[in-house]
Amino acid sequence: MLAVLVGQWWNGHYRGCMTATDYDSCATRYGKGRRPSERLIRKLLARVRVGSQSCVLDIGCGTGDYSVLVFRWTGAKVLGIDPSRGMLAKARVKGWDQVRFLQGRAEELPFRDQRFDLLFSIDVVHHVGDRLRMFTEAFRVLKVAAVVCTVTESREQLCRRFMARYFPSIVALNLARFSEVSKLVNWMRSSGFRDVETEAFVSCEAVTAHYVNAVRLKEYSVLELVPDEEFRSGLRRLKEDLGQRRLIREDWHTLIWGSR
Ligand SMILES: C[S@@+](CC[C@H](N)C(=O)[O-])C[C@H]1O[C@@H](n2cnc3c(N)ncnc32)[C@H](O)[C@@H]1O
Repeated sequence: MLAVLVGQWWNGHYRGCMTATDYDSCATRYGKGRRPSERLIRKLLARVRVGSQSCVLDIGCGTGDYSVLVFRWTGAKVLGIDPSRGMLAKARVKGWDQVRFLQGRAEELPFRDQRFDLLFSIDVVHHVGDRLRMFTEAFRVLKVAAVVCTVTESREQLCRRFMARYFPSIVALNLARFSEVSKLVNWMRSSGFRDVETEAFVSCEAVTAHYVNAVRLKEYSVLELVPDEEFRSGLRRLKEDLGQRRLIREDWHTLIWGSR
């Protein structure tokens, strides 16, 4: 409750001061510690039949980890789209010339109507300026009966993030950046999607030095917004805790499914 109130206060007073994450400058450090969740892609592919004839779009592909996984596991024609040249440059050097990475935004997809069999976005929608437009574009480029999956976090899940134990201000910062899941669901329905439903997804992992490195490098965009002193002390506490005991990181996401 407190977190929600703080979020509303932040929304009202400080939202205008916040700047969008500059992924071009993040790109050099992105992926040094952060790891894609293979389980998440398994979940996606368990629900949607994707084969070598399928055409898949990864919206906000970033450095391309998820696009590459989908290609590797299905042989599908996979395209990744992202506005950040820096992130795309990293995606392209992964050497997967079978996956095409293009510059573009979710709100204005440079594709003809009804081209894709599956469209997904992971940890992206909170960065998109016009979220309703993102869904109307997704609807336009999907084939009839094809599926879209938007992976995001609900307000409750944002409050429970493991990282918030060390950097408490990320709760209010994230509440201001993320749309409520119910709002995203409504936007999807009003864009024409049917069978819109949500599903919780939890990943439970031991905290490793890799994760601490991702935090240190601020690979999670919200950490850029945490005050310096809080960041320093949170990182110090995280390292100390990890030195003393095994830490388990339980992070929750919401998958929002819809079909055309
Ligand atoms: C947290 S990263 C996630 C990258 C990737 N999906 C992953 O999970 O590794 C967010 C990505 O969203 C991209 N992004 C920001 N605004 C966007 C927009 N309007 N349309 C599409 N992607 C956008 C950023 O450039 C960045 O690469």
